[in-house]
Order: sequence, then structure tokens, then C-alpha cells
Amino acid sequence: MHSLVRLVVLSVLTQPLSSLAKLYENPRQLPNRTYDYIVIGGSTAGSVVASRLTEDSDISVLLLEAGGSNDGIFKSMVPGLVKQLGMESQLDWNYTITPQPGYNGRALLCPREYAAVSGDEGWNWENIQKYILRNEKFVPPADNHNTTGQYNPSKHEYDGAVAITLPGYPLPIDKRVIATASELPDEFPYINETSGGDILGVGWWLETNGNRIRNSAATVYLRPAMNRPNLDIFVEYEAALFYHTTARHEVILPAGAVGTPVFMQLLGIGDISDLDKFGIETIVHKPSVSEHPRLSNVFRISSNETYDELFRNPDLLDLAIARWNDSRTGPLRILL
Ligand SMILES: *[C@@H]1O[C@H](CO)[C@@H](O)[C@H](O)[C@H]1NC(C)=O
Ligand SMILES: *[C@@H]1O[C@H](CO)[C@@H](O)[C@H](O)[C@H]1NC(C)=O
Ligand SMILES: *[C@@H]1O[C@H](CO)[C@@H](O)[C@H](O)[C@H]1NC(C)=O
Ligand SMILES: *[C@@H]1O[C@H](CO)[C@@H](O)[C@H](O)[C@H]1NC(C)=O
Ligand SMILES: *[C@@H]1O[C@H](CO)[C@@H](O)[C@H](O)[C@H]1NC(C)=O
Ligand SMILES: *[C@@H]1O[C@H](CO)[C@@H](O)[C@H](O)[C@H]1NC(C)=O
Repeated sequence: MHSLVRLVVLSVLTQPLSSLAKLYENPRQLPNRTYDYIVIGGSTAGSVVASRLTEDSDISVLLLEAGGSNDGIFKSMVPGLVKQLGMESQLDWNYTITPQPGYNGRALLCPREYAAVSGDEGWNWENIQKYILRNEKFVPPADNHNTTGQYNPSKHEYDGAVAITLPGYPLPIDKRVIATASELPDEFPYINETSGGDILGVGWWLETNGNRIRNSAATVYLRPAMNRPNLDIFVEYEAALFYHTTARHEVILPAGAVGTPVFMQLLGIGDISDLDKFGIETIVHKPSVSEHPRLSNVFRISSNETYDELFRNPDLLDLAIARWNDSRTGPLRILL
């Protein structure tokens, strides 16, 4: 990771500094200045917030990111490989959940994909859907199949920044799963739109994938913002926890579903009984800070007609990677 980040820094520095956002990795290089906003975490949310704020050239932003730059991270570009990123500790946090009785006492690896229940009306479906729509550019799936009935065209937008599409690499199991919905409609009703707010049932999920390359907040929002002089980005920030900097207006904390509550707890916002255990003085007693429901389950099945086979068989995976490299075809062109 370190050598990759240095490469990125080098390529940024070989271009005229005055017209570019600056990417720092050494706290001593950071300018001693006050920013209008400090955004902690170059996450999906943090990248968007930093990008949107710096559209106004009068607003200065410092974005702090604990990891390195995503540039050149091959697996983050290949739709079918992105899930594998979470298993590599230098790109993820290697968090594990506490041992679960329902999982036979195992403590499973926990890639950072959480939903948060905040109890805040601002986050309910009606209120956030308009932002989801503003964000999206619905595109045909990679195999250009007939999508009639698989999504509801009136629930989507077609001119946003992030490409959204239906899966474009059908497998035999797809039809069987969809057939379940007509055989057991009371238990597993078919839903013709998984992004419509009503998601209890069986339907086609959508993925952020355009032109067979994964779209992310970093590629779609942050990369275009990199040429703005009012944005500074500091990567690998954990090395510099003692660096002092000041925000004129706000410190924004999109540090992730695990990182954000940890930050808040360190600052004294959380459940008083949790904070007491670590001798942290409670400023705001807020038990909801550390409540995390996990809402999804992933199953592996024994058939070889699923993507699981790819990740069990290194030769098959190499072939698939070669196909994606050569022509952006094969199973890795979609999110697996
Ligand atoms: C940063 O600048 C302020 C004045 O703007 C000064 O008081 C402070 O000592 C400086 N800090 C460092 C580390 O240079
Ligand atoms: C990830 O964490 C587990 C313990 O939770 C540890 O055994 C393992 O070595 C860690 N993996 C890496 C790659 O650091
Ligand atoms: C797509 O499928 C629908 C229904 O299955 C059909 O009515 C429509 O003609 C098809 N469209 C094309 C372009 O084949
Ligand atoms: C999707 O299903 C709803 C009812 O659940 C129906 O009203 C709507 O017409 C359907 N839309 C499409 C595009 O299939
Ligand atoms: C998948 O399994 C079937 C039946 O077990 C077998 O005939 C076939 O060769 C397998 N395909 C691959 C790609 O391993
Ligand atoms: C695919 O491309 C990546 C990045 O250019 C390279 O690291 C990798 O070795 C290639 N893999 C294959 C199998 O062609």
C-alpha cells in the first residue's frame, strides 16, 4: 500500500501544484491552516461530501482517509472482484463480529457493509430516495438482455453520476430463484423493483457498474474533484492522530458504520455504561451510538453453476481475470 500511495503522490506532484488538489501522506507536509470543513473518512459518504462541498471554490475542505488511494487497486475496478477486497486486511479493517450462538459460536469476518437504524426521520425512505435518484444513471446491463419486468423504469433516473444497472451475466440458478416466487408467492413474493423502497421478496438486485467497470464514490465523485485547489486529501491519517487542524464550520464524520461510533465514543458520546468501562467521560448518553443490526445473509451452495466456483478454483479465476483484462467480458464484468 505504501509504495502505491507514494506513486500516486509522485504523479500528482509532477503536475502544476497550483491547479490541483493535494494528496498528503505525511502530517508534517500538511499546511498549517484552518479549513472550512474537515471530513473524516474518504468513504462513500465522505467522498461525495468532499466533492460536492468543493464545487464551491470559496469553500476549503480537508478530507482525512485512514487507508491509501484507490488508484491502481485492480480489485476495486473489476466489478466481480470487489467483494474480495474485504478479505485483505491492508484494504479493510479486518474487523470480526463477536462470536454468534446462531453461527455455532463462530466470530465471522465483518467487511464494512452495515445498515444503520438511526431513528432519525431524515433517514427514512421518503426523505432519502430523492438523493438516491439524483445520484443515479440507470444503464442497460452488460449483456443487454431484455429487462422488462425486472425493474420499474419510472423509479429510476438516467442522468446522475453513478451508473446503476441490472446483473448482466445470467446463471441457471437465477431462473430457479425467480420461479420460487411464483411457486410460493405468499412467502417469497416477486418484486419488480428492488430499489423502490419495498424490498421484502424476491427480485433482481441492482449494482453500481457501468461499462463493466465498477463505479464508486471515489471514482465518480472524488476523482473529478482531485483537480480542485480548495481540496486537500490526507491519506493514511492514522499515522498522524496527534496532528492538530481546525475547521471553521464543521467536522463531518462519515467514518463508516464501525468507525463513526468509535470516534463518537472516544469523544464521550455513547452509552454511559460502555464508556465507563474504558474510563471515558460521557458528554452525551446515547445508547443508539453502538447498536448495529446486521440485515443480510450470504449463502454458499454446493452446485458448480454459481459464482462460488470461481472463487474455489484459482485456475478458473485466472481465466476470468484474463477475460476481463482483455475484453471486459466474462463473469467478472458484474458485481459478484
Ligand atoms: C500554526 O499557525 C498558528 C498561527 O496561525 C501558530 O500559532 C501555530 O504555532 C502554528 N503551528 C505550527 C505547528 O506551526
Ligand atoms: C485478522 O484478525 C484476526 C483476529 O481477529 C487475526 O487472527 C488475523 O491474523 C488478522 N488477519 C490479518 C491479515 O491481519
Ligand atoms: C421484452 O420482453 C417483453 C415481455 O417479456 C416483450 O413484451 C418485449 O417485446 C420484449 N422486448 C424486446 C425488445 O424484445
Ligand atoms: C411493478 O409491480 C407493481 C405492483 O407491485 C405494478 O403496479 C407495476 O405496474 C409493475 N411495474 C412494472 C414496470 O412491471
Ligand atoms: C459441474 O458439475 C457437473 C455435475 O457434477 C459436472 O458434470 C461438470 O463437469 C461440472 N462443471 C465444472 C465447470 O466443473
Ligand atoms: C490483469 O491486469 C492486472 C492489472 O493490469 C494485472 O495485475 C494482472 O496480472 C492481469 N491478470 C491477468 C490474468 O491477465
